[in-house]
Amino acid sequence: MQVLGVSGSPSSPSKTALAIGTALDRAAEHDDVHTELLDLRGYDLVFSDGRDPADYTGDTRTVIDRVIAADALVIGTPMYRGGYTGRLKNLFDLLPNDALAGKPVGLIATGGTDHHYLAIEHELKPLVGFFRAWAVPGAVYANNTHFSAGTLVDDGVRSRLHELADAVVTFARRMPRDAAGATAPEIPRKAAAEA
Ligand SMILES: Cc1cc2nc3c(=O)[nH]c(=O)nc-3n(C[C@H](O)[C@H](O)[C@H](O)COP(=O)(O)O)c2cc1C
Repeated sequence: MQVLGVSGSPSSPSKTALAIGTALDRAAEHDDVHTELLDLRGYDLVFSDGRDPADYTGDTRTVIDRVIAADALVIGTPMYRGGYTGRLKNLFDLLPNDALAGKPVGLIATGGTDHHYLAIEHELKPLVGFFRAWAVPGAVYANNTHFSAGTLVDDGVRSRLHELADAVVTFARRMPRDAAGATAPEIPRKAAAEA
């Protein structure tokens, strides 16, 4: 099973990437689980222009294909202005509609304070819902006080990240991928020639 972490943070070092990495390390302790972190900072993604996702090339193609190949995902973002980052939004705009269908997704958000923790509920979960993926219950939110000198120092957050990782693996093992509900209506896309 391939569990892909996706970090929407533009920063380096990144607290979000650290939290995702903590969850991935835990997931990798399970038998037959392979993990990778897709750090969007490392890719030269084009800005979504509405073309058919099949027509993207280069780094954009590589990133789309890595998401499609994943069996389960751990997606994390810093809070930016009360929501997920533009970088993460762009990735979701680039993906084909069925890229996540039937896949479990563990959600992680970090913020300066706890002020915006409900953005997981009203921003990230609807996004996952659009893609007909399963938002695994028990998303994790961490704030700046949970990190120090480039490490995660809060045992409660670490424990919750482990629980989230365990749940993602359990969901991926037990949920049939074809149980993704009704197929969404086709959304017309621009062909590459028109783009
Ligand atoms: C442009 C910008 C906007 C931000 N907006 C918020 C916000 O609305 N709410 C919040 O709690 N933190 C906000 N923050 C703080 C970051 O979400 C927080 O420091 C986060 O942990 C950074 O994660 P990273 O190290 O992975 O980039 C903002 C930071 C930046 C740079």
